[in-house]
Amino acid sequence: MNVAALPPFFRLIALASVDSTNRELRELALAGAPEGTAVTALEQTAGRGRRGRDWQSPPGNLYLSVLLRPTGSPAQAGQAGFVAAVALAEAVEKLVPERAAVTLKWPNDLLVNGRKAAGLLLEASGKGAGLDWLVLGLGVNVTSFPADTAFPATCLEAEGVSVGVNDLLAAFAWRLDAWLGRWRTEGFAPVRQAWLERAHGLGQPITVRLERETLEGRFEALDESGALMLHLPDDARRNISAGDVFYPGL
Ligand code: BTN
Repeated sequence: MNVAALPPFFRLIALASVDSTNRELRELALAGAPEGTAVTALEQTAGRGRRGRDWQSPPGNLYLSVLLRPTGSPAQAGQAGFVAAVALAEAVEKLVPERAAVTLKWPNDLLVNGRKAAGLLLEASGKGAGLDWLVLGLGVNVTSFPADTAFPATCLEAEGVSVGVNDLLAAFAWRLDAWLGRWRTEGFAPVRQAWLERAHGLGQPITVRLERETLEGRFEALDESGALMLHLPDDARRNISAGDVFYPGL
C-alpha cells in the first residue's frame, strides 16, 4: 500500500489476513490508538456484518475499518455511518460507467444498479454520556459477491468497474476525510442532504423488518439521528433506528 496516497488523518495498518478488521481495530482502540487508525486486510476469516450476520471476505474485495473518537453524544455518532456512506458513494460514482446507478439503501448500504455492492458496520463503546471509540467497518465487493444473501448482491467488477482495492481505499479515504470535515464544521444537515439525494426508494413503499415485527409503509425521510421515517398506512409515523429494508418486487 502506498501510504502517501492517503490523507494524513489515516494511519493505516495493512494485514494479509485477519479474523475481522473491526475486531482488530477494537483491540487497538481499547489500547489507546488515536483517531484515524485504520486496519485493512486482504481477506477476513470471520468477517462481521450488521445484525449478527457473517460477511464473506475472500481475497479480492476491500475490507477496511477506521477508528473515530467522536466527541458528541452516541446519537450523533450514529450519523457517522451516513458520513461514510456518502463518502463511499462519491468515490464509486467516479468509477462506474455513465449509465450505472449508484444509490444508498438505509441505513448504510451502497447499491449499484439496485444490487448491494458494499456495507458498513459501526461498532462503538461509550464512556459516561459520550463515546470512547467508534469503529467504522466497510466491506466493498470489488471482484466477487456472495450468492446466498437475503438482498440481491453484486460486485464492482460485475457492474463494469475495473479498480484495484488500494486505489478504491485511497479514493474512499479522501472523500471520508472531506466529509468528516464537513460534518464537524456544518453538522449533519449537508450529510443528510447528500445521503437523501442518493436514497434508494425515497418516497416509495418499503418493507422494514425489525427484530420482532415487519412494517409496511412509505419511506418518508431521515431524522436528525439518521433514523428512517416511515409513514404507515394508518397515517401514523414511526422513526426506525435499526432494521432491514426491502423494496417491492425483491
Ligand atoms: C453489512 O452487513 O452490510 C455490513 C458489512 C460490513 C463488513 C465490513 S468488512 C470490514 C469490517 N470488518 C468486519 O468484520 N466487518 C466490516
